[in-house]
Parts: sequence; C-alpha cells; structure tokens
Amino acid sequence: MRHTLGHFRKLRESGEKIAMLTCYDASFAALCDAAAVEILLVGDSLGMVVQGHDSTLPVTMQQMEYHVGMVARGSQNALIVADLPFGSYQVSPEIAFSNAARLMVAGAQMVKLEGGRVMADTVRFLVERGIPVCGHVGLIPQSVHQLGGYRVQRDADRLLEDARAIEQGGAAMLVLEAIPAAIGKQVTEALSIPTIGIGAGKDCSGQVLVLHDMLDIYPGRKARFVRNFMAGATGVLDAIQRYVKAVKSGAFPAPEHTF
Ligand code: KIV
Repeated sequence: MRHTLGHFRKLRESGEKIAMLTCYDASFAALCDAAAVEILLVGDSLGMVVQGHDSTLPVTMQQMEYHVGMVARGSQNALIVADLPFGSYQVSPEIAFSNAARLMVAGAQMVKLEGGRVMADTVRFLVERGIPVCGHVGLIPQSVHQLGGYRVQRDADRLLEDARAIEQGGAAMLVLEAIPAAIGKQVTEALSIPTIGIGAGKDCSGQVLVLHDMLDIYPGRKARFVRNFMAGATGVLDAIQRYVKAVKSGAFPAPEHTF
C-alpha cells in the first residue's frame, strides 16, 4: 500500500522526519522502496542527470509521463510526486490541470510546481479539482535565467510570503530549496503542512536529494548541500538505506551541508 498524504501529515505532527529522493526509473524505484524511502520525486532534474542538459528547461510532458510510469511500476510503497515541467503550468490553471491530470494518469499521486504567490491560484484550481499539489520555493531551477544562476535565496520576507500563499492555495507539501537554515526553520514553523528541504537546513519536516548526486554518479558540479552516501557504503541499496537512516535520525543535513 502506498503512503498517503495523511501519513505525511501525521509525521509532520509527530516530528518524525520524512525521507524523499528523486527517482526516474523502475529499477531504482524498487531499490528506493526496499530502502523505505517514503516519497519518490520524479523530478525534472532528470533533464540534467539523465539527459545531460545543463538545465531542467528542455524536459517535456511526454518525457515526464514516461518516467512517472516507470517509477510507478517499480515501486509499491512510496508516494510518487511528479514535477510539472517548464511551460506546462504557468500559462493558466486550466492548462496546468490538463497536464497535471496526464501525470496522475501516468502513475503519480501528487504533482509539484515551482513558484510562490504567482502560482497560488493555480494550486487552488488543481486542489479543488482533486489533484494534490506540492509547492517548491527558494531556488526554483526552472527560473534559473531569471534568478541569474543557481544561487542561494536569502530574502526571508519574500520566502515566507510565497510559502504562506502556496499553503493557503491548498498545497499539501512544500519543497524549500537552497535557502539559509534559519529561514528553513522559520518557514517550517510558520506553516502547518510538511516542508521538505534540499539545502534548507535540518529543521524542515523532511529532506530530499537528487538520487544521482547522493550516489555520486552525476559528473556535473555538486551543490554544497549534497552528501555522497556511496562513501563507505557496500552498494547502492546500502547507500540509500544510509540516506534514509541519516534523514530519519536528523543526522542529515549536517552543518557542512547547509547555508
Ligand atoms: O527536479 C528535482 O529533482 C527537484 C528537486 C531538486 C527538489 O525539484
């Protein structure tokens, strides 16, 4: 049985940390499931770590549907969250709904979209029509050119406003990327939905990393918030189990992986 949103609400309330990883195919999905990863994010980061692009922008809806299907077939327990790719949701809530529905049909239980206040009405439109939404604020990679690069986001007031707007829109979860740990804590305390950090400090409700980064198989530049879990591991399953254990115990992220 797959984990439900109710399960993650309870973890947030009890303070137990949530372990999430990105995943793009059936074999890795089965390994992540065996290691008790609770949420698999079919991230558009696949554009970089699988397809070799230098950003997530070229990823298409068809490619996302293909990868979501693989991850759904390979796993039985994890909640599957699928990224709406660049250009598939920004134009209107109606277009966002038809693309989100395609990802749900492909096997996702929740979709993720990037952006703060400007996306709140779209979040509400999807949620009111039965599609659970995970927000994503902070460093939003689909806006890399607008942000001037993959930079840490430090405007606490703006991040708080964006996070609140996404929660008020009805999102059930929120990814916080590349923000100072103190702001990760402040945002997490201000919300009642679970926050999932990637470079957002230890006080988020859970953590996510890009699978290829934490297994050290991505040849590109690594962000400071990445830890190589293959170091000292006996194999891939062991590395993923070590990640889950580190997240659950609060040992990851350590200060050297935070801003
Ligand atoms: O696409 C992705 O992998 C993501 C994570 C970085 C959170 O959005």
